[in-house]
Amino acid sequence: MPALTPSSPPSTFSSSPPATPAISRPSKRPFSEVTSPSSEDRPSPLFPLAKRSKLSAKLSSTVKAKSSSNTKNGAPKPSQQKLTQLHFNIDQSILRTCPICDLSYTKGASGDEALHRTHCAKVQQGMEWGREEEKDRIRNGENVVTDVVTDVKLRGRKKKGRVICFSADIDGKIGAKLSIILQTVNTALSSSELSPAALQCSKGYLFLIPHDTMPNRERIAGCVIAQRITTAMAVVPPSVQGCLFTSTDLSNDLSLPSTTPTSSATPRPVAVGSDSNIFCDPTPLPTPMGISRMFVYSAYRRLGIAQALLDTAAATFIHGCPLDPLKGQVAFSQPTGTGQAVMEKWGKGAVRVFEDDD
Ligand SMILES: CC(C)(COP(=O)(O)OP(=O)(O)OC[C@H]1O[C@@H](n2cnc3c(N)ncnc32)[C@H](O)[C@@H]1OP(=O)(O)O)[C@@H](O)C(=O)NCCC(=O)NCCS
Repeated sequence: MPALTPSSPPSTFSSSPPATPAISRPSKRPFSEVTSPSSEDRPSPLFPLAKRSKLSAKLSSTVKAKSSSNTKNGAPKPSQQKLTQLHFNIDQSILRTCPICDLSYTKGASGDEALHRTHCAKVQQGMEWGREEEKDRIRNGENVVTDVVTDVKLRGRKKKGRVICFSADIDGKIGAKLSIILQTVNTALSSSELSPAALQCSKGYLFLIPHDTMPNRERIAGCVIAQRITTAMAVVPPSVQGCLFTSTDLSNDLSLPSTTPTSSATPRPVAVGSDSNIFCDPTPLPTPMGISRMFVYSAYRRLGIAQALLDTAAATFIHGCPLDPLKGQVAFSQPTGTGQAVMEKWGKGAVRVFEDDD
């Protein structure tokens, strides 16, 4: 069953961009595999095996009963009853991709459907940020959460939001909340968990907006994890890509023709991910900040939240040293299609790409 295929392997680089994407963001993993790694937890097939054997036992006993009743009193044994195929549907895929949460799951598999429903609800509305978390921010008299910006306007909304920041390896109530957020994000992006080492050199930025009904509570509308990195690759502008990839490349001949702008001394661009059309110059360039995770709950998308989080992260990630995405000081890890749209709008082509450790 395709929904149970194993997870995509971690990202790797290659140098044959058009034919085989090189850094492959793990393609959207089927839902059951993402959420239930053990084989016991996987959803049962449409006809569970136990049920199938019961069904065939029932059929054969019916046939036996019929044939034995027909042979009673020494009557001639009739030819075996012909079974008719009543329902056979091969023209519709049972794999569904949810337009809201973008997850693929097997329609009809109750476990898969239930897991999808849970995830879909989590993707739409962020969790609450309330009194418990506010209490937890003061530890031994020290505030472990920074209020980075307040009164952030949202497009078309009266409510204003704020951005808070804390170390991504934080523990306690706030740490527990961050790991739940990251679980949802990782499932949505089909990414693996960030390693403890990566979290240790990362900061989590949360966008909070006032709760609709409860006055002293807020909702987490979006999240960005910014990581200290050393190098990243520059993106090759689309206008140049056309010159780099000729029909020779596309026909799987990996040697670039001498008429192309790249010579044998110039490293060949590598493709990033399977659902983006980004190509990078593989030369590692010093880059201080990488965005390893970026997520806005679907109820709050296209309000400018991702951009606000990125602005805040670039301005505050390194104390006293604001970073400029337009100067290539920020990189994204293997962006998704919409991640690429944000990257282009925010960084105007100067945002780089790095390979995170998932
Ligand atoms: C990608 C994501 C974080 C964007 O969050 P967002 O708050 O909606 O983004 P913003 O409102 O700040 O949008 C900034 C710009 O990015 C571009 N953009 C964002 N979402 C887009 C979309 N779905 N289609 C096309 N362009 C889009 C637009 O240019 C937008 O500016 P505009 O609204 O003025 O046109 C959000 O869609 C998301 O969480 N997606 C699922 C997870 C994901 O793919 N993360 C990216 C990992 S790299």
